[in-house]
Amino acid sequence: YVVDKGNHRHFMVKEIHEQPEVVGHALAHYLDLARGEARLPEGLDFAKADRLAITACGTAYYAGFVAKYWFERLARLPVDIDIASEFRYREQPLSKDGITMVISQSGETADTLASLRYARSEGQRIAAVVNVRESTIAREADVVLPLLAGPEIGVASTKAFTAQLAVLAATAIGAGKARGVLSGTEEASLVRAFSEVPRLMHEALKLEPQIEALARELSKVRHCLYLGRGTSYPIALEGALKLKEISYIHAEGYAAGELKHGPIALIDEEMPVVVIAPHDRLFEKTVSNMQEVAARGGRIILITDPAGRDAAAIDTVETIVLPAMPAAVTPLVYAIPVQLLAYHTAVIMGTDVDQPRNLAKSVTVE
Ligand code: G6P
Repeated sequence: YVVDKGNHRHFMVKEIHEQPEVVGHALAHYLDLARGEARLPEGLDFAKADRLAITACGTAYYAGFVAKYWFERLARLPVDIDIASEFRYREQPLSKDGITMVISQSGETADTLASLRYARSEGQRIAAVVNVRESTIAREADVVLPLLAGPEIGVASTKAFTAQLAVLAATAIGAGKARGVLSGTEEASLVRAFSEVPRLMHEALKLEPQIEALARELSKVRHCLYLGRGTSYPIALEGALKLKEISYIHAEGYAAGELKHGPIALIDEEMPVVVIAPHDRLFEKTVSNMQEVAARGGRIILITDPAGRDAAAIDTVETIVLPAMPAAVTPLVYAIPVQLLAYHTAVIMGTDVDQPRNLAKSVTVE
């Protein structure tokens, strides 16, 4: 990996475009594509584990949040997900046969490291998903799951996020097999689905001109809401985080079903609502949330697939249509339009995209 911007204007957009390759690389490492099997890292006994605690900060936390859905669904393993600055002080009981997984691009985030040390003092087995292999977190973990993503320079994390998702998905599939939840056929079909992700990411990147045009509109607003259900909920949170980090537009991510319990009060003609909704088993539920937004004059930006576009039957400001894909892989691909939307909005607003104000790439103090 060469650390320069190449033909790109910012590191962030270079890193966004590297994702098909980076994710392909991580998947090739953690999945045996030819045999249709996940390669579980040595030293993690998922068959025996009764609980998984995941902790991280920022974007890495949202990757862990997606992984909670995967581990629970594919491996029937209960997962607690915590922000590291809460995990380290909550004094929660950790089960004897539990595994703690920390996720950190840099491997140096102070709260995440302190969480690791707390978990260790409670006798947990510790796995670390890190990009920087020489980092403190990597050194102190029992098992290291490297992202192999190459250096990430943009302060707002992009390729590390999707590489984290790739590693976590592969591990969840492996855990599902080890725990006897997934049959060999189901494992092979999931592995096949994930092997398509780099191609799907390429397709998503082709939507950049449409997203750039949409960013012109978004750059005029002061607030923006992101909604999603299931694994699209953490992607909504990540989309909102990306937008606020680099464009300084106030953005909130919400579980779509929670709309009526608060954020609906904010909806008016001024409020764009980005809805992340692949045509999955929860799609109809999200459509009713979109109707609630539309009825109040809210402006909907829908990110979906061809079936979702056809079934939504709702007036949107813009519909971004990704290819159809199996539900398990959507978080990796739907991450791309939300990253591009934040990036182009920030460029139009003229902010310092790679070094946003007040933020640091790695927060090594509490
Ligand atoms: C900072 C960065 C974020 C990152 C977070 C966690 O806030 O600006 O992009 O997600 O730290 O960093 P880590 O290195 O632990 O993943």
